[in-house]
Amino acid sequence: MLRRLYHEQPESFAFTPENQKWAEAQITKYPEGRQASAIIPLLWRAQEQEGWLSRPAIEAVADMLGMAYIRALEVASFYFMFQLQPVGSVAHVQVCGTLSCMICGAEDLIAVCKEKIADKAHVVSSDGKFSWEEVECLGACSNAPMVQIGKDYYEDLTAERFAEILDELAAGKVPTPGPQNGRYAAEPLKGLTSLTDHESGRHQYNASAQLATDIGDTVKRIDGTEVPLLTPWQGKGKPAPKKAAAKKSPAPKAAKAPVETADEQKVAAKKPRVLKAARKAGADDLKKITGLGPKMEETLNGLGIFHYDQIAKWSPAEVAWVDDAAKARGRIERDGWVEQAAALAGGK
Ligand code: FES
Repeated sequence: MLRRLYHEQPESFAFTPENQKWAEAQITKYPEGRQASAIIPLLWRAQEQEGWLSRPAIEAVADMLGMAYIRALEVASFYFMFQLQPVGSVAHVQVCGTLSCMICGAEDLIAVCKEKIADKAHVVSSDGKFSWEEVECLGACSNAPMVQIGKDYYEDLTAERFAEILDELAAGKVPTPGPQNGRYAAEPLKGLTSLTDHESGRHQYNASAQLATDIGDTVKRIDGTEVPLLTPWQGKGKPAPKKAAAKKSPAPKAAKAPVETADEQKVAAKKPRVLKAARKAGADDLKKITGLGPKMEETLNGLGIFHYDQIAKWSPAEVAWVDDAAKARGRIERDGWVEQAAALAGGK
């Protein structure tokens, strides 16, 4: 397929202030002289903001990275994940047309796209809301046929259900991603025959669909206000000293048995200060913290944690306590809740 710049281009491109900050922070991940390594995340963020990559967007990113325009264009035109033409204002639909999906009905889904969106791929529908394309295997073959809409997968589709999903999106709703035939995940259609005590009762949806539902940015254009910057090293000096200090640890400590180390960590866990109830102004929306969904918010509230500034003050020992008490399974540290909460508390 010939991939070239769209014949009509906007006059200019600018990141939103938040996306600009995010982009600048990404560049700091790379050593001096290697800023061009940030090309893909920056092009991707530009696309998340606008829906597609215009020439001014590609050039603006190239300018930020000190690259020749042609080098940035080479990247944008090489990877099919970059859309070089306008897409629907609500969603761009990617229909998997590879083997499993083809056998299970991808052609029926493409027929729906042709009927409801546009006769040809990469053409925006007459109401401007949708566009579509056929893509190669998206790695959800056991839930074929499937489509990717925005950031999420809709699986186990029929033509009828897919048409309904498009109607719901057109009406401003975001249908729950994941299997659309009642399956929890990718278990056998006739039900489980082994490992039947899996934790399906723990969440309403499987992990992917649950996270997609919790975050809720399936078809949202990302303007950078969704999550705080996840660049915890910024403003704190270099992260390297921690590792250097660990290397200098005296030999006797390093020789301790692993069991003792784990026990030490447990002893170190410390309950943070909690509240009996939210303050008068009401509880903060903890769901704004990436990786923290409604169920976890409920759990934290139950533990007496209602506000960003509470989370922002957690020490590593307190993080360990909450992680255990809320069964967060390492998400607090992994997703940088403390840094996110600090940024949210500062922005209030
Ligand atoms: S064949 Fe469609 S997801 Fe793999």
